[in-house]
Amino acid sequence: MNNEITIIRPDDWHLHLREGEMLAAVLPSSAKIYGRAIVMPNLTVPVTTAKQAEEYRRRIIDARPEGSNFEPLMTCYLTDSTSAEDIHTAYAVKAFHAVKLFPAGATTNSDNGVTDIKKVYSVLEAMQEIGMPLSVHGEVTDPEVDVFDREAVFIDRVLKPVRENFPELKIIFEHLTSKAGVDYVLEQDENMVATITPHHLLLTRNDLFKGGMNPYMYCLPVAKTFEDREAVRRAAVSGDERFFLGTDSAPHPARAKEKAGAAAGIFNAPTSIGYVTQVFDELNALDKLEGFTSIYGARFYGFSPNGSTITLAKRENPVEMDWQIKVGGDIVKIFKPDTPLLWDLVD
Ligand code: DOR
Ligand code: ZN
Repeated sequence: MNNEITIIRPDDWHLHLREGEMLAAVLPSSAKIYGRAIVMPNLTVPVTTAKQAEEYRRRIIDARPEGSNFEPLMTCYLTDSTSAEDIHTAYAVKAFHAVKLFPAGATTNSDNGVTDIKKVYSVLEAMQEIGMPLSVHGEVTDPEVDVFDREAVFIDRVLKPVRENFPELKIIFEHLTSKAGVDYVLEQDENMVATITPHHLLLTRNDLFKGGMNPYMYCLPVAKTFEDREAVRRAAVSGDERFFLGTDSAPHPARAKEKAGAAAGIFNAPTSIGYVTQVFDELNALDKLEGFTSIYGARFYGFSPNGSTITLAKRENPVEMDWQIKVGGDIVKIFKPDTPLLWDLVD
């Protein structure tokens, strides 16, 4: 039995760090585990220019714990008014590693998102030309579409036409949650990859309602059926390079989670690598863990794997911790699914 594993230091290819007090409070959790992270641009004022990205990057660097080499990789928030020229300018100074498509109204701080994909076709053209990846929140916002079908419908209504028009455009289908999504990625070529979160490896929609409605299990895209979770798990442990880790760790203060209209987002950074390792262990796939967490994503984004390693150990008793962090006068609760956590980072 394997009770300890050492892997190349992972990267997080999808992370929300926020700003100010929240940034300062959550950053150490990611910096302790991950070498680099693709940082999402959905701030209250979205990151839409090279200048804003550079300013935000500096703020993250300044908030790093003493001695940390954690490297934030910045992204651009795509809006209806983003121009091909904006992309060329940003490319020249290497300001962005990806451009993020939030369909307008799909999730937290997405009001400035794209209202119709055709409006940004000239931007996609420019991105295809220079090799800038498009990071996609893959859900339609049509109120007539069932919330659990929004990923599948997005494939038909948005991804298929985009792939037809821009076959060489690199696309990251973020936080894959459905069998339809997995099957679609599997049918595509190397220009289409997908990130998978720790929570979508663990949760089904039952978790949202277990013991009463639980906003701490609520994120977007929402967790789906057992069959969907199984497809996502199989993809993660398959060793297929197109699937890699993006935690989508998305902190919200308790006051935003514990109310009617609870915010979508799960703060999983502290327990993320432990839970991912645990799922790989359960599926007898620890030999596939390092590729998923530390190699495939780096390769896709054009980086070498990190030069250091981390070690994880399987404990005899569930890991104990204070499952929350303080942020200003409030707290942010750490992702704690029903499954007890056994795998833990060895300091
Ligand atoms: O659950 C989510 N939270 N999904 C997203 O797409 C955004 C994120 C956030 O920023 O809170
Ligand atoms: Zn996200």
